[in-house]
Formats: sequence, structure tokens, C-alpha cells
Amino acid sequence: MENKSLVSINDYTKEEYQKILDLAEEFEVRTTQKILENYVVATLFFEPSTRTRLSFESAASRLGAKVIGFTDSASTSVKKGESLKDTILTVSKYSDIIVMRHPREGSAKYASEVSPVPIINAGDGSNQHPTQTLLDLYSIRKTQGSLDNKEVAFVGDLKFGRTVHSLVIALCSFNTTFHLVSPVELKLPSYVKKHIKESNLTYYQYTDLSDVIPKVDILYMTRIQRERFSDPIEYEKVKNSYILKNNMLNNSKDNLKILHPLPRVNEITEDVDSNPKAYYFQQAQNGVYVRQALLTTILGAK
Ligand code: CP
Repeated sequence: MENKSLVSINDYTKEEYQKILDLAEEFEVRTTQKILENYVVATLFFEPSTRTRLSFESAASRLGAKVIGFTDSASTSVKKGESLKDTILTVSKYSDIIVMRHPREGSAKYASEVSPVPIINAGDGSNQHPTQTLLDLYSIRKTQGSLDNKEVAFVGDLKFGRTVHSLVIALCSFNTTFHLVSPVELKLPSYVKKHIKESNLTYYQYTDLSDVIPKVDILYMTRIQRERFSDPIEYEKVKNSYILKNNMLNNSKDNLKILHPLPRVNEITEDVDSNPKAYYFQQAQNGVYVRQALLTTILGAK
């Protein structure tokens, strides 16, 4: 893992996930440890972000590293026509590791192939979001005691949802049963379903959310992502497909936790926030510990 890019969740084995999660637990106990004082972390965000960028920057700051980067490529020389390759080669001269979010699928892989410093994929289009997956795994393990043999529902935009794709693939290592709730137009891509089948695991597909809630340990809600639709009429048709309200949780399991990578729009009403089963803001907090674990592992400081 040391000095290696993290482009896809498939880059890590089950044992490597566990190693990151164990280290994240240590950072949760002692968050400020100045072990990256001599390092510079670059955060290059070609797409908007609140949690991923700020939790990476918080993680780096708590470790004593300096942070450089941008939140809008329009303020960089990309606007003048500079290529992704030249941007990466340049930033690699100023930093020890690059965290990058980009709207194009495959951009993180490409960046990792041209970069002399490790690249961490902070989301590439609708493809993958592996660091979100690690914090999702951390949140599941922390709330359920283990990752094994869980009933997990994924709800919403399973077609374009990069957090869903990465997490389903990771959970295939833990004997998960998958409950996939989506509009017909937004079903999980077949390559991800193939991965479930090849792992000898079971998935069920639904269009109705209420049937699923009593069955599951984890309810992973997602936003229907307006920005992924080329036709706004298609978005309008599905945008309100699932809205989780507090009274829908009455028959849920005692151990149920509701996760959401966030941001949410209207798919979880605010009355759910005070339910002890709502875990999405703690989930976002866990991102700091997991990203501390990732930065220190990849930079060889732990
Ligand atoms: N979960 C997530 O990726 O959130 P941001 O888009 O705010 O980074």
C-alpha cells in the first residue's frame, strides 16, 4: 500500500481494508498526531465537494501536513487549455501525494499512470469513490460490531452512484446479502451485479422501499444525481422516487443504521435526523479518521 495509488476499491484486498480500518480506529482515539509535518498533500477538485475535500484537508492538517490545491479548475491553467497530464506532472513537483476528484470516469487511473507521486481517487465521474467506501466500511463495522453476514439495502441512484458501486464490490468480501432498491431506469450496472454473482452472493431487486426496511441491518440511501442526467426530463421523472420518513422506520430492526454518503436533497426528511438509527453525520465524521489512516499508510508514515 505504501507509495501506491488508490484508484479503485479493487486495488485493496480484504486484509488491506481491515488494516486501514484498524488504523482509523487509532486515529479516532487520538486524532491529532503530527506525523506528516514534512509532507505536502495536494487536493485537486475538478468537481464540487464538501465532505471529501474538507475531511481530507482536516485529516492532513491534524497530521501536521501542509495542504495545497484548488476547488475549481476554472481558476487554474486548465482554463487556458492545460491537459490533465501536465497539471498532474506539475502538481507532483509541489506535493508528495495528490487527492483528485474529476468528472471523467477513468481519470484517476490515467492520472496514476502519469504521476510520479501516489494518486488517491476522490471520485471519478460515476465510476468509483474508494475512500468513501473505506469510511462506509468503518461505519458499518463500528455500528454493527463486524462486517460479516449483513443484510444491506442500497436505495436510489444505483446506476450512476459511484459510492454504491465501490461499496457493493467491497462488501462482496464479507458475505453480504444485497437488497437493491431503485427506479427501473437507475438499476445497478450489470458489471457490479456480475461481481456479486461471481462472489457467490445473492442480490434482490425492488422498486418499492417499504418492503425492504424491516429486513436490513444497513439502509444506504443515495441522492438521485441531477448532474448525471443528460436529459432533464428523465431526471424529473425519477427525482422523488424515494423519500425516507421517520414513521417508515417503525418496524425496522433494533440494530438498523441509516447511512448516506451525502449530500442529501430530499430523500431523507429532517425528522429522521434525531432518530438514533440515523448515522449519516457520524459517517461523515468517520471520514477524517479513515483518511488519516490512508494518508499515513500511503506515505509510509505508519
Ligand atoms: N460523500 C461525498 O463524496 O460528499 P462530497 O461530494 O461532499 O465530497
